[in-house]
Amino acid sequence: MARKALIAANWKMYKTPAEAKAFVDAFLPLVAGHARDEIALFPSPVLLPTVIPACKGSNVAVGAQNIHFAEEGAYTGETSILQLKAVGGTHTLIGHSERRQYFAETDEIVNKKLHTALKHGVVPVVCVGEVLEEREAGKTASVLKTQVTGAFVGITPVAAKPIVIAYEPVWAIGTGKTATPEIAADAHSIIRAEVAKLLGADVALGVRILYGGSVKPDNATALISLEEIDGALVGGASLKPDSFAAIVKY
Ligand code: PGA
Repeated sequence: MARKALIAANWKMYKTPAEAKAFVDAFLPLVAGHARDEIALFPSPVLLPTVIPACKGSNVAVGAQNIHFAEEGAYTGETSILQLKAVGGTHTLIGHSERRQYFAETDEIVNKKLHTALKHGVVPVVCVGEVLEEREAGKTASVLKTQVTGAFVGITPVAAKPIVIAYEPVWAIGTGKTATPEIAADAHSIIRAEVAKLLGADVALGVRILYGGSVKPDNATALISLEEIDGALVGGASLKPDSFAAIVKY
């Protein structure tokens, strides 16, 4: 079964509204008519009211880098799924390693956020990945299995259909050290096998697993053209329109 690749830009805490608008104005013409892959931008919440209208009617979707699991409430500094939907956001990252590392997000919180996104019809991109010490200690497979199992608690096969997973080895994020296509494909197989165990072969065959971690225009083809790799989650190289467009057109 052919899975349509998703090429996603994680802008992290970069860009002002003016810079975001300038990006979209330059980027959309570069990918106009590109239908082979899905394209999504994940800007900071304060940029969403600029980026979403600017992308309206194009082939580029827009989502959040994070949502709270509660629909509303006394959670200072957080963004809710209802707020995201109200401004037209259709996707959200969940459990990015920077959220896990700096904001103490656990598998349990990731799971709660996943339930919230699915309940509200927002496409979740659930991020998993091992840190360097875990890889060096030969624990990659068990870390990935634990993260996937933890994220999917209580998720049924029917509900799971829209879920996208991003494999992002933490040692490859922002370091310029990309996983080799073999390392990435191996991790993707482990993740897919775990999804099969939890939710059945059908869901596992359909679920898209993106690779993230120092994806650049010059390594994108080798990674994304692999059968096991269904797109990319791109940080640094997604900040410039020509660089991200080159990755989209790998
Ligand atoms: P990077 O970030 O491409 O800058 O390594 C990827 C990510 O954190 O999603």
